[in-house]
Amino acid sequence: FTHSVPNALSGGFKYVPKNNRLRIQMAQATQMTGLLGADGVTPVPTPVWGYGELGQDVTWPGRTIEIDTADDPLEITWANQLHNVPHLLPVDTSLHWAYSMHGYGRNSIGRNGVPVVPHVHGGHNDSPFDGNPEYFFSPAWAVRGPRWESRKYYYGGPDWNQVAGMNWYHDHALGITRLNVYAGLAGFFAVRDAADTGRPDNPPGLPADPYELGYAMQDRMFRSSGELFYPAFPGDPFYADFITDEGAYLPDDRFPGGGPTALAEFFGDHMLVNGVIWPKASVESRQYRVRLLNGTDSRFMRLRLKVIPGGAGNPTATDPAAGYPLPFYVIGSDQSLRATAVRIDEIDFAPGERLDLIVDFKEVPAGTRVIVENLLGDAPFGGELPAAEDLFPNRRTDRVMAFDVELPFNSSRPDTQIMDGSHLGGGVNVADAVRTRRLALFEGTDEYGRLQPLLGTAEPVTDVQGNTVNGTLAWHQPITENPGLGDTEIWELYNATGDAHPIHVHLVHFEVMNRQRFRADLVEQPVEQHNGSQGSGFRLENIKTIGRENAPAASEQTRRDMVMALPGEVTRIRMTFDKPGRYVWHCHILSHEDHEMMRPFHVGPGPY
Ligand code: C2O
Repeated sequence: FTHSVPNALSGGFKYVPKNNRLRIQMAQATQMTGLLGADGVTPVPTPVWGYGELGQDVTWPGRTIEIDTADDPLEITWANQLHNVPHLLPVDTSLHWAYSMHGYGRNSIGRNGVPVVPHVHGGHNDSPFDGNPEYFFSPAWAVRGPRWESRKYYYGGPDWNQVAGMNWYHDHALGITRLNVYAGLAGFFAVRDAADTGRPDNPPGLPADPYELGYAMQDRMFRSSGELFYPAFPGDPFYADFITDEGAYLPDDRFPGGGPTALAEFFGDHMLVNGVIWPKASVESRQYRVRLLNGTDSRFMRLRLKVIPGGAGNPTATDPAAGYPLPFYVIGSDQSLRATAVRIDEIDFAPGERLDLIVDFKEVPAGTRVIVENLLGDAPFGGELPAAEDLFPNRRTDRVMAFDVELPFNSSRPDTQIMDGSHLGGGVNVADAVRTRRLALFEGTDEYGRLQPLLGTAEPVTDVQGNTVNGTLAWHQPITENPGLGDTEIWELYNATGDAHPIHVHLVHFEVMNRQRFRADLVEQPVEQHNGSQGSGFRLENIKTIGRENAPAASEQTRRDMVMALPGEVTRIRMTFDKPGRYVWHCHILSHEDHEMMRPFHVGPGPY
């Protein structure tokens, strides 16, 4: 924990729109992450893709966009400047991806540039500006996705998010989302309202700038020369560990050309916060509001704060057994505050989720170091893979960052007084549902025998073309979820896989109602792949729920756009679909959404 981390919610890290307009480019740059080269001494730069204002530098993560729910709309022109660059990472062209779509086969990244499409995750976006994967565009909009509509995207205004919350923006191009985000295309998008102004005059009395911190947590691998590394070829370090040993992925000879292949999941061996490896932040002895984003591909975390008495200089600071936990307060998560603050010791944190926490550094002696620990190893939640720290003893992915309580107290800014039970005025309140859909998560295999995570239905339904379908469905198959405009629905997500999946539904802010165990028969059936070949999937029969319905966790008692679907459980969410058009829902393990664990849905009448 040697390098200081920038705060994504401080003035210098934010865009300041002129006349409610921004022009943001996606381009390549080099950035210092704190990585040391092969000699272990010399810092080396890393080529990344970042967001930045047109004509200015780009950064990873992109600078924070901040908007007030009461303000005028924000217009963003997203300019793709990723021409004349190869992809920073190996592209698996066997997946269903932008240039593999019907009519796009003659395009390539080398000739046409990298296809991108920015999505404001958590935004109550109009369909044309939602960043749907098939709305991708190449540099200068020369190649446009089959559903592309507009160069300018409109956000904000009175019918946009309605409540304060922490959105984020990231790339969503079909089949290469994991790679574009890995290269650096992600940033915070903060929404404020009258109750949560981000200024000291906020009604709930929350810590405000500079005592509000924004940190995007992401894991990465690097070459010793500085480049980002993604193990995609047989023989790459970690390729065998993550693929063949797990048994889930292919032996080398089964894949055409031996690669590159997408991974079932990706776990980096370095933890980064706002683009800095294992960083630290200096804090005063007072309450801070800490807003976190899990921007990883696949890494579930269970966060805990650990106090190292004596601070960074203490030799036991590196001893995993030393120290004691520091409880903290959860005040919110994806969207809106909770009704009240809750004091807890540890918290689950899935890819795509945000957390809104209060940490009270008065509770530890001055000079103390507080380490943010991750109590889970390198594994799909529920699965088993070797932790990076077992393979590389000097790489501790069970630790993310550190706070050093070392700044003098600024007495001109009074401390805040959040306590267990403090009233915050938030919460979630969704109308009664007019319909319940039974949907499901499956683990099938693609045409090459690779594990293929899939969504589908848990009951026979009629799709918008009039076919009756049941079970696993690939991305390109006709719409099966077609809520009426303004309808409130309950979606029951039956997770028939062995792992937890963080499910994201675009457009809506939902209520996590409950979870319950279930039993069902898995019946094998074919899945039509994007290229017409056949993979194998499943449907569920004889579903029976077991035991009681479990209430959501403390961090889930807010408006949400993410929910963890636990294996062997049905997770029930409730939401209102109040804008028309095409949207998507998917697993936010980026490797999964790129490999078919994503489905379109359509609100209101067609065309579809
Ligand atoms: Cu964070 Cu569909 O995305």
